[in-house]
Amino acid sequence: MDKIALKCLLPFKKGTTEQNKIANYFDHQAFPSLMAGLFITLEGIDGCGKSTASKELARILESKGHEVYLTLEPSESWLGQAVRRSYTEEISPYTEVFLFLADRATHTLDMEKKLADGQVVISDRYCDSSTAYQGEALEELLAKQGIDSVDWITQMNSTVIREPDITFLLDIDPETSLERLKVREELSKFEKHNYLEKVRANYLRIAKTEGRMRIINARQPAEKVLADIQDILEESFKHQH
Ligand code: TYD
Repeated sequence: MDKIALKCLLPFKKGTTEQNKIANYFDHQAFPSLMAGLFITLEGIDGCGKSTASKELARILESKGHEVYLTLEPSESWLGQAVRRSYTEEISPYTEVFLFLADRATHTLDMEKKLADGQVVISDRYCDSSTAYQGEALEELLAKQGIDSVDWITQMNSTVIREPDITFLLDIDPETSLERLKVREELSKFEKHNYLEKVRANYLRIAKTEGRMRIINARQPAEKVLADIQDILEESFKHQH
């Protein structure tokens, strides 16, 4: 609660209904402004449910009066289309990581404008996707040069990204995720058990060093996943000035 709100509370006896009513009013009013310009990302292996969770979260925040910009990576621009096209082409794993980064650099500029406008930005995948997925794709190649792929991509990312305020890692085992993906006609090159196992391990490794990352149990029903996200968001940003 801000200083003006506290001043309004002074004439009332502590704990009285009047004081509570006014406190509630200001909390409600203050919540949207405290979250303005907040940058949220959702991450996880394929089939973890982050796309559904991102959409639902956007809907809930909008219903609470926030202006929300919901976006995703690969982005919807021509750069994102180039990335998607590469999924079915024979390309070097280096080309792959640079394509994702090329898309991200411009996508970041786009999101920064929305954040500067005071919008809440939610991105379904961002920098950690490259660290986790391409971290695995490049592991062997870079290890031959004595380079740790996760550290290398983290460094590459850092030059083009805006650090998210909070990242939700929807953690799930590959067995469950692949079971969920069975309904799809065709799986991408990323959607293989061994690969996803390693991608998951990379995500969990990132979570150990990135304080912004919160792990959510994504085996739970979608409503519970969303409720956990909401609880953490409110806890983290409601009282922050
Ligand atoms: P995804 O959000 O799963 O899209 P879809 O719902 O169409 O499958 O992302 C597409 C794939 O791209 C996914 O398998 C993860 C992969 N990916 C990377 O490997 N690196 C990245 O940096 C990003 C953003 C995505």
